[in-house]
Amino acid sequence: MSKQFDVVVIGAGPGGYIAAIRAAQLGFSVACIEGWKNPKGELALGGTCLNVGCIPSKALLESSENVEKIEHKYADHGISVSGMKVDITKMQTRKDTIVGKMTKGIEFLFRKNKVTWLKGFGSFVSGGDAGGDKYTIDVKNNDVVDTVMAKHVVIATGSKARHLPGIVVDNVNICDNEGALMFGVVPKRLGVIGAGVIGLELGSVWRRLGAEVTVLEAMPTFLAVVDESIQKEAWKVFTKEQGLNIKLGVKIEKVTTKKSGIMVEYTDDKGLAQTLECDKLIVSVGRVPNIDGLGVENVGLKISDRGMIEVDDHCLTNLANVYAIGDVVRGPMLAHKAEDEGVAVAERIAGQQPHIDFNTIPWIIYTSPEVAWVGKTEQQLKAEGVDIKAGQFPFAANGRALGQGESGGFVKIIADAKTDRILGGHIIHAHASELIQELVVAMEFKAASEDLARIVHGHPTLSEAVREAALAVDKRTLNM
Ligand code: FAD
Ligand code: NAI
Repeated sequence: MSKQFDVVVIGAGPGGYIAAIRAAQLGFSVACIEGWKNPKGELALGGTCLNVGCIPSKALLESSENVEKIEHKYADHGISVSGMKVDITKMQTRKDTIVGKMTKGIEFLFRKNKVTWLKGFGSFVSGGDAGGDKYTIDVKNNDVVDTVMAKHVVIATGSKARHLPGIVVDNVNICDNEGALMFGVVPKRLGVIGAGVIGLELGSVWRRLGAEVTVLEAMPTFLAVVDESIQKEAWKVFTKEQGLNIKLGVKIEKVTTKKSGIMVEYTDDKGLAQTLECDKLIVSVGRVPNIDGLGVENVGLKISDRGMIEVDDHCLTNLANVYAIGDVVRGPMLAHKAEDEGVAVAERIAGQQPHIDFNTIPWIIYTSPEVAWVGKTEQQLKAEGVDIKAGQFPFAANGRALGQGESGGFVKIIADAKTDRILGGHIIHAHASELIQELVVAMEFKAASEDLARIVHGHPTLSEAVREAALAVDKRTLNM
């Protein structure tokens, strides 16, 4: 007889593992199916985020930023370092150790919360319209197939890198995120297709470590989703100050591998034919939802034209008791969005009424300086015809930032002109990822800019710049 569970979660990325833990906390019997294997061939929980996404990329960003600081920033403090050596093997081992700790940590959390890990890949066999509200799912681990029954199913199968037609990703020379996180030596010439989040973060890692980086971007605008004032600042810093060679408005024509390296043929923004020769190429042109082998046809699960599982506002699919969350459904492809949807569906299965405000999900690009924002950009609000007022404050006028040697960047707060309610927060600074959370909380609580301006902020802290930006909305900054 097959094993039966109240809730079966398919996929153990940040969406799935969090959904499983929350469902177990709420008293359900829970299993989570996951068959991911790391490069050593070991089964690992954690999904894209922990294995080949957020966590390893941030480990390499931190290591490479330390190199950058020693080379370019310590001199200002009167510290000179000679004979610096960079050991890429050790840097990669450190990254792998962090990944290992985190993924083993989920195994511990599963044991603690009594979540059963079913090792393998899950595939719907039957259920839904044909089989009532119980679902039969096969769990395939190589040639071994186990079968489980579930009253509720949460699909959290995530996403995979989008590849371009005619460009074969081997993850050795032509890489997506997986290969780009594993280089054993610093490429002399690195090509990147796509100036999005991965292109900028991983391009920065390898540039800081010595690669000559050229980024080829299809769009005519740099970081079009970001507030225009931040776009301008980021462009200046990344290209002029840091030397990332970013070409906008290009069309990739052909990629060939030659003895001398990889040859990318493209048309530039003036319509002229160009070539880029590089030693390694990263293809980072977005991600696509992953429903491979899920057996969606066996249960009639609805998939959109764009390959996503269709869900309503509560992540419910067209099938009774089947939810889908994270990268495999609409909305931003971010780990924290997947996690919060995981919590929400577990609570909804338990009969609660959770809610996620998509407008207050923060976005962060972990370059140096970091770019972080929440809510809407000035250009979006203007296009919507909203009457706004904005305030900006530079870190150059913040004592803590000066002390840290991180005085570049600014905070910008946009508020409704009449009600003063905060509609957007935008930060470019070395520590923007931490600072943005104050604006997230403010927006969640529907704060006015004056609310923030009247809150006592510790001194000297970077967060005083957030307060000053709030004061600037009312044109009454105190320190500028
Ligand atoms: P995933 O993490 O993709 O997990 C899905 C899991 O499901 C996988 O483990 C997969 O093996 C498993 N699976 C698939 N099919 C089946 C099946 N049939 N049966 C069983 N298991 C299955 N986001 C951020 O918020 N911050 C960041 O800093 C950040 N950095 C990133 C850096 C990189 C290089 C990349 C690639 C992504 C980054 N992201 C970041 C995005 C983030 O990783 C994803 O948004 C997040 O992992 C999505 O979580 P998920 O649970 O939906 O899916
Ligand atoms: P992205 O969507 O951020 O950027 C892709 C870029 O490639 C875009 O600028 C796009 O215009 C460009 N592009 C698309 N097709 C192209 C082509 N044919 N030629 C040249 N350029 C082309 O996608 P990316 O960087 O691959 O990251 C995938 C997702 O992973 C992100 O959207 C984000 O959701 C998530 N992520 C989040 C991170 C974070 O939160 N810090 C870090 C890394 C990834």
